[in-house]
Amino acid sequence: MQKTILITGGAGFIGAHVIKRFVQSYPDYLIVNLDKLTYAGNLENVKDVENAPNYQFEKGDITGLDYIRDLFKKYAFDAVIHLAAESHVDRSISNPLLFAHTNVIGTLTLLQVAKENWSNHLDGKLFYHVSTDEVYGSLENEDEFFLETTPYDPRSPYSASKASSDHFVRAYYNTYNLPIVISNCSNNYGAYQFPEKLIPLFINNIIHQKPLPVYGEGLNVRDWLYVEDHASAIDVIFHRGKVGETYNIGGFNEWKNIDLIKLLCKLMDDKLSRPTGTSAQLITYVKDRAGHDLRYAIDATKLNQELGWQPSLQFEEGLSKTIDWYLENKEWLANVTSGEYQKYYEKQYALNERA
Ligand code: NAD
Ligand code: DAU
Repeated sequence: MQKTILITGGAGFIGAHVIKRFVQSYPDYLIVNLDKLTYAGNLENVKDVENAPNYQFEKGDITGLDYIRDLFKKYAFDAVIHLAAESHVDRSISNPLLFAHTNVIGTLTLLQVAKENWSNHLDGKLFYHVSTDEVYGSLENEDEFFLETTPYDPRSPYSASKASSDHFVRAYYNTYNLPIVISNCSNNYGAYQFPEKLIPLFINNIIHQKPLPVYGEGLNVRDWLYVEDHASAIDVIFHRGKVGETYNIGGFNEWKNIDLIKLLCKLMDDKLSRPTGTSAQLITYVKDRAGHDLRYAIDATKLNQELGWQPSLQFEEGLSKTIDWYLENKEWLANVTSGEYQKYYEKQYALNERA
């Protein structure tokens, strides 16, 4: 094998797309998927590659220092692509300590073990940290965008934990010369996203004719990117990004929540052959999320100009494909909403979490 790559969080939403892309596009790489299989991790998401000769799954916890040391001994990794995290803002509001533990201590543990293993031979090594646009805070003016140079201003426990992990990644670059790269991406959507996030939650609720809980007045703005375009950007940055750099990833595709929700309702009515307006009747305005960031908008010019990356899909096409996927995979949706998938994989894999 040309390279052995540790990908963390590969049973989650974005991680699964990255795993599949790397396993299928690079048969000369051994791809090791390390995932704790929390509520958000589901091996169904990577079923397409589970028997590939260049793929290996390890169930374990990124916060277990000795466990991660053992894993590096077992595989002698050349690179890490780190996606494992607690990722849902609402959960961070009710359980901030878990977010600090997983996102900060977990990242620090991986950095420390990578440093211990690579310090005498850094050539060709890379620690790629996958982060979020939320670290930059909330934009107030319509003409403002997040640049790689925008000062960090995280405002939720989730974004604070991600910002903190980004700072540790840069600290290991500055202090120990650990070869790192960071990307900060906007909101992803697509297949295999856990139905707690806006788009899959609302698709699921429309299918079952349940209320669509719109936070506040629905005026918050998010910048949406198709998940496979995020995976393609990670591929480009992993192979051609400059060590020590940060790259913003986004599709210049801003939507006010309520406009996106109305579009989703219309597309769902068409696809389910329900009279136009049926799904929109489910819209229910609810209490706003605490500290709800008003607007995120990524400027991805650097990635486009320096590495030639651009998104492949227009939003309406991506959203339509996404809805089709959930309608064709109602069993996946039912399994993750009932928690059935966890019972199955708990029996198959014991957790390695030696601290
Ligand atoms: P997700 O919640 O779907 O998946 C996270 C995965 O990490 C799960 O498989 C989970 O089991 C695993 N995990 C959690 N704790 C772990 C631990 N202690 N040890 C090992 N594995 C653990 O998340 P996602 O939406 O796919 O996001 C992946 C990454 O991308 C995160 O770092 C997130 O911050 C970042 N990101 C997400 C988005 C988005 O829109 N979803 C946008 C930008 C950046
Ligand atoms: O910007 C990148 C981030 O995008 C990622 O780092 C996070 O991991 C990811 O979860 C996402 O964060 P958001 O909070 O923007 O995504 P979410 O899908 O939770 O919400 C999108 C918008 O919709 C947000 O303004 C809150 C609103 N919302 C969400 C839910 C779940 C509702 O109005 N109702 C809801 O039920």
